Amino acid sequence: MSRFFSSRFAALTPYTPGEQPRDKKYIKLNTNESPFDVPDSVIRAAEAASQDFRLYSDPTCLALSQALERAEGVPRDRVVWGNGSDELLNFAFMAYCDENTPAVFPDVTYGFYPVFAAVNRVPATIIPLKADFTVDLEGLAKAKGTVFLANPNAPTGMALSPEEIESLVRSDPARMVVVDEAYVDFGARTVAPLTETYENLLVVRTFSKSRSMAGARIGYAIGSPALIADLQTLRYSHNPYNLNRVSIAAGSAMLGEETLVRERCEKIALIRDETAAALRSLGFTLTPSRANFLFCKHPLLDGEALYLTLKERGILVRHFSAPRVKDYLRITVGASADMHTLVETLKEILEEQS
Ligand SMILES: Cc1ncc(COP(=O)(O)O)c(C=O)c1O
Repeated sequence: MSRFFSSRFAALTPYTPGEQPRDKKYIKLNTNESPFDVPDSVIRAAEAASQDFRLYSDPTCLALSQALERAEGVPRDRVVWGNGSDELLNFAFMAYCDENTPAVFPDVTYGFYPVFAAVNRVPATIIPLKADFTVDLEGLAKAKGTVFLANPNAPTGMALSPEEIESLVRSDPARMVVVDEAYVDFGARTVAPLTETYENLLVVRTFSKSRSMAGARIGYAIGSPALIADLQTLRYSHNPYNLNRVSIAAGSAMLGEETLVRERCEKIALIRDETAAALRSLGFTLTPSRANFLFCKHPLLDGEALYLTLKERGILVRHFSAPRVKDYLRITVGASADMHTLVETLKEILEEQS
């Protein structure tokens, strides 16, 4: 830290992104990316847009909003675009939390939430997940502040039903609820339609997972026109060109590929369930994941040691050191062949143990 760094941030612990080592070729199952490449239509749109790099991108992201309206029926005045959903989540912490309105979220959830609370200098109220890792909805409802809920949750992959989320949103119209649906397309149900009924619900989504575009950095939030206006105020006060022209063009093209995206999500869900069964037969315990990752532990294997052994053998997975989850690994669902290699490698490791 330099002596010029503001004291406001001196104690900030930044988010740690999943590692991207370059020392050798890994089977990469650590950051929940899609195993599928984007289709040619998206590449062509990106190439065409790069011809105009000289020009600023469209601050209204109109092409994306029009394509989203066609694909998902979300009206244009109900959406705002972000440089990844992380940017919009940060805006939501800025917009809907302050010293009297804490950010409220579970202990085991997306690791960026505490960082967003800290960087915005707002208090965080942590409501632990229940012993079985289900969300303590009553605890959340009782706490004062803006609730941030990843649904499905990360890293457990467990999902709440729209009815459960609606009961929380309805219980107090004076409280904001932000639902982060980064992983919703792999088998959970969206609450986006409820934003038409409830002014205190914001839904944040991303192109990084089901739409195979993590590197393009495209996220969007859906909510009432008033909530969208709040986030636009912050966006225009931060960077009106937060989406570059290649991402706008490529993302718009991807929204024309909804059938392909749906088929791919179904395939990933199938591979997830097959891999879960294979891991269970090796003695692993898993949470019931509805996302594109598995969360598992083995009674004979230490979480961190297993992560390191897999890395040595060319497979990258994610390990978290927080006490409640340190025995677990989070494993992204990749291509079928890669999941097969993972299961075979785990078999070898277990055989070596016995
Ligand atoms: C729960 C959750 N929300 C949001 C994000 C951020 O996604 P992005 O900024 O790529 O849209 C992630 C990324 O891993 C995530 O796990």
